[in-house]
Amino acid sequence: MTVHIGAATGDIAPVVLMPGDPLRAEWAAGQFLDDARCVNRVRGMLGFTGTWRGHPVTIHGSGMGMPSLSIYANELIRDYGAQTLIRIGSCGAMQERVGIRDVVIAMTASSISTPSRGIFRELNYAPCADYGLLSAAVAAAERGGDRVHVGGIYSADVFYDERPDLNEQMTRHGILAVEMEAAELYTLAARYDRRALAVLTVSDHLLTHEALPSEDRERSFGRMVEIALEAAFA
Ligand code: HPA
Repeated sequence: MTVHIGAATGDIAPVVLMPGDPLRAEWAAGQFLDDARCVNRVRGMLGFTGTWRGHPVTIHGSGMGMPSLSIYANELIRDYGAQTLIRIGSCGAMQERVGIRDVVIAMTASSISTPSRGIFRELNYAPCADYGLLSAAVAAAERGGDRVHVGGIYSADVFYDERPDLNEQMTRHGILAVEMEAAELYTLAARYDRRALAVLTVSDHLLTHEALPSEDRERSFGRMVEIALEAAFA
C-alpha cells in the first residue's frame, strides 16, 4: 500500500496499461483480462489485475495531466516494481494527414513540463519511447489494419490552451498530436530503467475541428488495449 494506491505488494503485474480514465480501466479489464480483480480504488483511481493469454497484466488509471500520472507511475514503478508501462489514451491531431480514429504511436514527447523543468532547468531533455515496445506496437497496429502514425507528440500542461502560437510551432515542427501525459511517463521510465510507450487514438483535430463520434470511442479504445497488450508481450 502506498499513499495513493491501496494494492497489496504483489497485486500489481510487471506490465501495466494506463488509461487516463479509471472507468476505462474497469471496462478494459472486463473486456480483455481473465480473472480480473480490483486492486485499487483509492480516490476512485481504479486499478485491476488479471491475465491476458496467461500473462499477468494490471490496468490502472493515470488521471489527467502529468502531475496526476506522475503520482501513479512513480508508485507503480518504485513501490510495486512495474517494468513495462503503456499509456493508452486520446489525443488531438496537429497535422492535416493525421485523421480522426487514426492511431498515433509516440516516439518522443515534447513538453513545457512543470514536473521535469525543476530537474533539467535550462536543458531540453528529450523523453523517448522504448524502441522494442514501439516497433512491436507499430507491427500490431498495422496487422490490425489501423491507420498508424509514428513520430513526435506534445504533452501539454493545459487542455484549454491560451497559447495558439505554441500549437502552430508544434505543427510547423512536425508534431503529430497533443495529449497531456506521455512526456512524464517517458521521463520516469528513463529514470528508473523501465520500458514505456504511449499508444493514442485521435479523438479531435486541432486544425479541422472534427471530433470522434461518441459511439466510436469504445471501439477506438479497445484497439489501443489490443495493440498495447500485443506490444507488451511481443
Ligand atoms: N489537447 C490536450 N489533450 C488532448 C486533446 C487536446 O486537444 N485531445 C485529447 N487529449
